[in-house]
Amino acid sequence: MLGGIAAGVVLPRGPLRAGTQELRAAVGQVQLAPAEYPATEMWVYGGSAPGPLIRAAQGGRVSRELVNDLPRPTTVHWHGIRLENAMDGVPGLTQEAVAPGGRFAYDFAVPDAGTYWYHSHFKAIEQVSRGLAGPLIVDEPEPPEVDRDLVLTLSDWRLIDPAAISGDFDNMHDAAHAGRIGNFVTTNGEAAYSQPVRRHERLRLRLINTAPGRIFELSVQGLSGWIAAVDGMPLEQPLPIGQMFVAPGGRVDLIADVTGEVGQEAFVLEIFQGEGFALAAFPIEDGGGARRGALAALPPNPAQLALPQPGEARSVPLRIDGGAMRGLREAVFRGETLDGQALAQQGIFWALNGQAGAPPDPMAEVARGETLRIPIVNQTAFPHAMHLHGHHVREVLPTGGMGPARDTFLVDPGSVREIAVLLDNPGDWLFHCHMLSHHAAGMGTWIRVV
Ligand code: C2O
Ligand code: CU
Repeated sequence: MLGGIAAGVVLPRGPLRAGTQELRAAVGQVQLAPAEYPATEMWVYGGSAPGPLIRAAQGGRVSRELVNDLPRPTTVHWHGIRLENAMDGVPGLTQEAVAPGGRFAYDFAVPDAGTYWYHSHFKAIEQVSRGLAGPLIVDEPEPPEVDRDLVLTLSDWRLIDPAAISGDFDNMHDAAHAGRIGNFVTTNGEAAYSQPVRRHERLRLRLINTAPGRIFELSVQGLSGWIAAVDGMPLEQPLPIGQMFVAPGGRVDLIADVTGEVGQEAFVLEIFQGEGFALAAFPIEDGGGARRGALAALPPNPAQLALPQPGEARSVPLRIDGGAMRGLREAVFRGETLDGQALAQQGIFWALNGQAGAPPDPMAEVARGETLRIPIVNQTAFPHAMHLHGHHVREVLPTGGMGPARDTFLVDPGSVREIAVLLDNPGDWLFHCHMLSHHAAGMGTWIRVV
């Protein structure tokens, strides 16, 4: 990347090359609910919710100048991308928030192919819940052969009568329980997403959970195939599609053949309280060819080639405490040790290793290239979607061996799940729960790589 530049020369960042695309964050009117309802006032990128699809070739760059037309500061985080720390979009950690009327040039390489997304990281519980999220796809040089490559950006919204985004972003019940769960689910901003397909076509379905708190349990009908990638990273062995939980922030790539009958519909379903609800409907038309054979694994990303070596690694446990039913006895918040009641008055319900909020010190400081083992001890009554910025982690399986690479890791209540991560990207990296009400209520820490 620095080829041709004399040692010691520091390139100024921005203004960007002429012609760099803008990513404009603004208040907008969006027809989110069905047509018989009024439009919804949302905060949007590029006029739509979800924001525009950003697509780049693996090894290429993403360059967007954020233009902040919102009445509040904002930043953009590029979820799951291994990028320079200064481009990571975390206010107070990697950059100053961009004031209303301000601009910020994001420009970074995308080393790994796959399905990612971008979203506001300033008061994310409010800004993502108002609409500031969009898909980011990095294409393999030789993508797997499919008939359709479909991005399905899943969101859930809390609408109040008639179709307004509920403004209770600091709702204490959400903060202390399962997070902000909406009452209206959309795929690509539509309540009834539908895409005609042909029988036996092979579909690549890129599902992105951008919801602020909802864990999607997914299933399919009239489709048959494999989970090919998780959190952007190809599985070494594609798994037959079975029960799938996608945490807030998480992604899965399905590669599936249309096996339903002509005239019927195939579906991606959300399983909710024992029933299936269509997230995407695929009316099946005639004219497809013969069914294809088994799917070969997608080529691994560079991120997957260097495996963490947990055997030799330092272990830094992460204990999650708090929330309804267990409570937080005390925690350090803004330099003070407070009891549960005093914390609740500040809207704080969770702590990581006894610290709440954005602690001044990292949970660990490591030398670049070091592997860390992190046993995550969830002592609470709720699942948490732990997300590490700038890296992918692997589960150290109790049976030995390691799970697939992922950036967002669901830890069930009362369980201990150990992850290992090769920290090879210098900078300060946020590590937090992607249930955004939980993060706002204290569940965030960070790791320094020097
Ligand atoms: Cu997708 Cu810290 O976030
Ligand atoms: Cu959480």
